[in-house]
This record gives sequence, C-alpha cells and structure tokens, in this order.
Amino acid sequence: MKALVTGGSGFIGSNIVKLLLDNNYEVKVLDNLSSGYQINIQPFIDNKSIEFIRADVRNGDAVCTACKGVDVVFHLAACVGRQKSLDDPILDSSTNVLGAVNVLEGMRKNNVHRIVYSSSAAIFGELVTPTIAEDHPQNADSPYGVSKLAAEKMILAYSGIYDITGVCLRYFNIYGVNQRFDLYGNVIPIFAKRIYAGEPITIYGDGTQTRDFVNVHDVARANYLASKSEHGTDVYNLGSGSSITINHLAEMMQDIAGIQVGIKYAPERPADVKHCKADASKVLGALGFKAEVELEQGLMEYMQWFKDNCAGK
Ligand SMILES: NC(=O)c1ccc[n+]([C@@H]2O[C@H](COP(=O)([O-])OP(=O)(O)OC[C@H]3O[C@@H](n4cnc5c(N)ncnc54)[C@H](O)[C@@H]3O)[C@@H](O)[C@H]2O)c1
Repeated sequence: MKALVTGGSGFIGSNIVKLLLDNNYEVKVLDNLSSGYQINIQPFIDNKSIEFIRADVRNGDAVCTACKGVDVVFHLAACVGRQKSLDDPILDSSTNVLGAVNVLEGMRKNNVHRIVYSSSAAIFGELVTPTIAEDHPQNADSPYGVSKLAAEKMILAYSGIYDITGVCLRYFNIYGVNQRFDLYGNVIPIFAKRIYAGEPITIYGDGTQTRDFVNVHDVARANYLASKSEHGTDVYNLGSGSSITINHLAEMMQDIAGIQVGIKYAPERPADVKHCKADASKVLGALGFKAEVELEQGLMEYMQWFKDNCAGK
C-alpha cells in the first residue's frame, strides 16, 4: 500500500507515519514544517524509508504531484486550533479549506480513491450534551471549527460525485509522544512543562471539569484501520469514551513525574464546557476501533518522552 501523509512531520502525523511503516506501507510525507518538526521523522528520512516533500498544501501543483502513484491519502496538514484561527483567520481558511480541495483535486486527477481526514470535535462548537455522538449539533464557533467542517463537507461532496471514499475522524483531546509545548498548546504539554520547570499548574475553574483524552498511538491505529476498512464514506467521533477531571489529571501527572508543584486556581474561562466525552460506539461498530492505551500508561510514556526531549527547552 502506498500512502501520502500531509502534515506528516507534525505531532499526530509523525505517529501515523511510524505505524504505517511498521505495517509495510510505502510512505510520502508532504509538509511545510510550519508547525511540524523535521526531527519527528528524521530517522525515516535518514534511512530512506519515506519520501519527504517540503511543500505547502495551498500549492495545488505540488499536492497533485505528491498524489501520483499513491493508494490512500491521510490528510492532516492544517492550521491547528481555535486561538490560532482567531489570530489569523485567512491563514486558517486558506490552509484548511483550500488545502483540502487541493488534496481532493490531486486525488481525482491521479485516481486515488481513499482519504482519511483528521477532523476535529471543534466542528461542534458549543457542546450541549456531555456525551458527544456524531449527530450532535454542528455549530462551529471559530474559524477553525468552520474550516475543519468545510473540509469534511468537501470530502462528502467529492465522494458523492467522484470515485473517492473518505473517512473523517473527529478527534477529541489527543496526547502523546511528539506533542511539544507551544503557545496554542493543549493541557497535557502545558502541565508537563510546568511540572518539569517546578512551577505550579494553573487550572481554570475548580478543576472538576472533565475531558476525554486519547493517546496518539490509538489515533494512529484508527487512521490505519480506516485506510484498510471496506466501509465507505462516513464521519466518526474519535475519543476514548471515558473522561477524567482536570484535577485528577494534574495529580496523576505530578505523581508520575515524582514532582509536586501544586495547583493555582484561576477564574473559569467563559468558553470552557464543563463535561466533554465522545460517544465511541459508531467507530467501534464500523472500523472495529476502541482506544486501548490506559491514560496512566500513556502519561507515563509521555512524561518520560517530554523529560528527555522538551524539559528545559
Ligand atoms: N492535536 C489535537 O488534539 C487535535 C484535535 C483535533 C484535530 N486535530 C487535527 O489533527 C491534525 C494534526 O494536528 P496535530 O495536533 O498533529 O498538529 P501539528 O501542528 O503538529 O501538525 C500539523 C502539521 O501540518 C503541517 N502544516 C501546516 N500548514 C501546512 C501547509 N500549509 N502545508 C503543508 N503542511 C502544513 C505542519 O507543519 C504540521 O506538521 C490537524 O488536521 C488537526 O486539525 C488535532
């Protein structure tokens, strides 16, 4: 099987690349390294097990060339996150919407029939039920949520018109190796950075809010299963189906590191939802996917990785 992974040097993409190589896929990576890190895939470049194309998904010609000869595209390249999209909505839309159309056009012109798309729970906007099924109202409330939803809709439209099937996986909170701290970072790298810097963790609200965390190894496996599956075009929520309070998460991470930094509580942020958990049943039924990495086990691996690669940097 030959695969193109856009955004393959990023956090999730690099983990997918590794799993595909472990399963004997031939892999090309297209990435402009705007938020990804070449170091994530350097060993695969060095031993020539992948072809690395440094290019922008907004460049239709480059994407079309990259699609030549592949059987499946894993499309991850994106401007990621709500805040980034508020800071630069043009970059967000041009990358996430035009990028997706370029990928679909590249596929159509090169007879590539399968796409696995990394979508986001951000397409739902304000969450109105504690457990989120696929038919939860879609009221995306940021340029990011809208652009991720637009790309999903584009895939659904192309699959109705052309010989293309698309699996859209809507991620909840993903964590794991290769997830570095950045200004727009997620809670787990932020907490890890604080712990290893010996600084107290800040929690907004009283910490009883709950979130559904999925390990990136599970996400990579879901992508792999989606590429192999006989199921046609569809959308799936991808979570673990269980949740944990932010207080418990902070405790667990400090215990694993063996460093107690304490917690500072700050006022709740207006946009924060109290409880959030994916209904994981549809993806289990169709793709046979169930998250397997226990949070504590995944955090042990992550904290060790963070300590070795990021702490103090
Ligand atoms: N991390 C999460 O919790 C999460 C949650 C929901 C959805 N997602 C989705 O998963 C995908 C991967 O996210 P991630 O967390 O690995 O982020 P990431 O920033 O690590 O990965 C994105 C990759 O895309 C590349 N990229 C960005 N713009 C590009 C462009 N114009 N041309 C080519 N490459 C470009 C970046 O360099 C990077 O390698 C994204 O599509 C994101 O929307 C992530």
